[in-house]
Order: sequence, then C-alpha cells, then structure tokens
Amino acid sequence: MSMPSEDTSARPVALVTGPTSGLGAGFAKKFASHGYDLVLVARDEERMRVLAEEMKALYDTECEILQSDLATTSGREKVALRLGEGVEVLVNNAGFDTSGEFWTEEPKLLQAQLDVNVTAVMQLTRAALPAMIASVNGTIINVASVGGLLSGRGSTYSGSKAYVISFSEGLSGGLRGMGVRIQALCPGFIRTELHQRAGIDMSSIPKAMWLSVDEVVAASLADLENGKVISIPGIQYKVLTTVGRLVPRSLVRRVNKQRSAEGGRAHNGR
Ligand SMILES: NC(=O)c1ccc[n+]([C@@H]2O[C@H](COP(=O)([O-])OP(=O)(O)OC[C@H]3O[C@@H](n4cnc5c(N)ncnc54)[C@H](OP(=O)(O)O)[C@@H]3O)[C@@H](O)[C@H]2O)c1
Repeated sequence: MSMPSEDTSARPVALVTGPTSGLGAGFAKKFASHGYDLVLVARDEERMRVLAEEMKALYDTECEILQSDLATTSGREKVALRLGEGVEVLVNNAGFDTSGEFWTEEPKLLQAQLDVNVTAVMQLTRAALPAMIASVNGTIINVASVGGLLSGRGSTYSGSKAYVISFSEGLSGGLRGMGVRIQALCPGFIRTELHQRAGIDMSSIPKAMWLSVDEVVAASLADLENGKVISIPGIQYKVLTTVGRLVPRSLVRRVNKQRSAEGGRAHNGR
C-alpha cells in the first residue's frame, strides 16, 4: 500500500463499502492505521459513527459517513457522486449471501443481492476511475469470493462473485500503465456476520478452512504490492482453487448434484 505524504491536509482517502462489520471493518481499520482518511458507506449509521469515533481516537482519522443502501439506485448514486470528487482507494466490499434455494427465494431479495454484489461494484468502479486515471493514482479492491471461482449450489452468490472476478481481471488489462491498480479478492470462509445474516449453518466447516479478517486484509494488501490481480488468501484455498480448476466441469456438476440430493449447501468457500 502506498504511504500517504507527511502533509496532513493532503491525507489520502479510502472509501470502504460495508465497514460496519467483518471484512469491511478490517479494511477500514487497516487503511486508517496507515494514515488514510475514510469514507464509510453502509446502512447502519450508528455502527459507522462508533467506528469513526474509534478511528479518530486511535489514528486521528477523519471519517465521512455516507449512509446508503447499495441495493437502491439513489443509494448507489449518492456514493458515485462522492467518488467522482476523487479518492485514492475504493474497497467494494459490501455484499451478502442467501440461504434458500433459488426457486423459493424471494425475487426481491435475489434482485437486491445482484444490485449490491454486482451493480454497485460496477457502478462505483465506473464512478471512481476517471479521477484516479486523471491523477495517475488509484487502487480498487473488489471483494469477490472463492465461490466465484468454484461455483456451488448457491448459484446467485457464486454467479455474482464470478462477475466481480471476470470484470476486475478484464479491467486490469485495460488499466495497465495508467497508475491504477485493481484486484479481485477471493477469500474462502471468514468469521464475520455474513453466514449468520443469511441464516446458513456453518457448524460442519472444519476449523482449518476458516480465515481471520486480519489474515485476509494482509494477504490482499501484500498481493496488491506484488501486482496480483486475483488474490486468494490462505494456502488451503490456493490449493483448492488450483485443483478445482483442473477438475473437469462435468465432475464438479456431478458433485453439486450429489450435494443437492443430500439437501446440503455447497461448502466450497463463500
Ligand atoms: N465471510 C465470508 O466467509 C466471506 C467469504 C468470501 C467473500 N466474502 C465477501 O466479503 C464481503 C464482506 O462480507 P463479510 O463477510 O464481512 O460480511 P458481513 O460481516 O455481513 O458484512 C457485510 C457488510 O456489507 C454491508 N451491506 C450489506 N448489504 C448492504 C446494502 N444493501 N447497502 C450497503 N451496505 C450493505 C453491511 O453493512 P450494513 O448492514 O450496515 O448496511 C456490512 O457492513 C462480501 O462481499 C462477502 O460476499 C465473505
């Protein structure tokens, strides 16, 4: 991560979506600890206020709070407007999973998931890039998932994350030489509020498959420095995704079918 200048009036700014818990809170705290001011974007204003106070006390961070529901057009427009003014870092982190089968899940919820996991990532990246390109300086971290590399039964979540990976990877080629870095971060299971919010029972997941927020943030930033566009934190997930890509798609489909018959959710990393 590039370090800010000594002049405090010119502190760099990181805009983080979904900083009220989990991975987003981890990214916000890490950037604040590196001297960045923050723009916080989520629905829960009270939790953002608590985080802002904590960051001010710890690092003298200035936090702008943008209360916004990224599932709505007006919510995304509000954030896009702020990005147009210029930020050094954008972390498109907000996202959510669902627990039901596709054909029984509320259509409205599925649309909201697409809007938060995909539309917001695309629109906010589009809003941030012109200022980053003009200043030949910028970093965009798009939080995807291992689930976007190895599709499981939760088809809409995996599908949304596959979009984020393909979109970010493609864009990285176009941005070469323009001073803007882009990454698709693909974590496996992280202990956050995601599964609880979705009502997914995770009790059968082996301990070895869990990553910590700090581990994922550190891996993402190290991979950025090394110019890696697709970041897969944790050796267990590097192995899983490498093997997964070698396995024929027909076998993957057969395993998913078997899991369906057993009534379980795909546990390949969310
Ligand atoms: N946990 C995992 O195992 C895992 C694995 C791979 C990838 N990921 C990805 O990591 C990212 C962060 O998730 P997490 O695990 O940290 O989950 P989390 O603890 O549930 O945090 C999700 C964050 O997204 C925000 N958010 C959700 N819906 C929103 C909306 N409509 N508008 C604005 N903000 C919204 C939430 O804020 P408010 O509720 O305050 O709005 C919250 O801050 C997601 O993209 C997720 O898909 C997670």
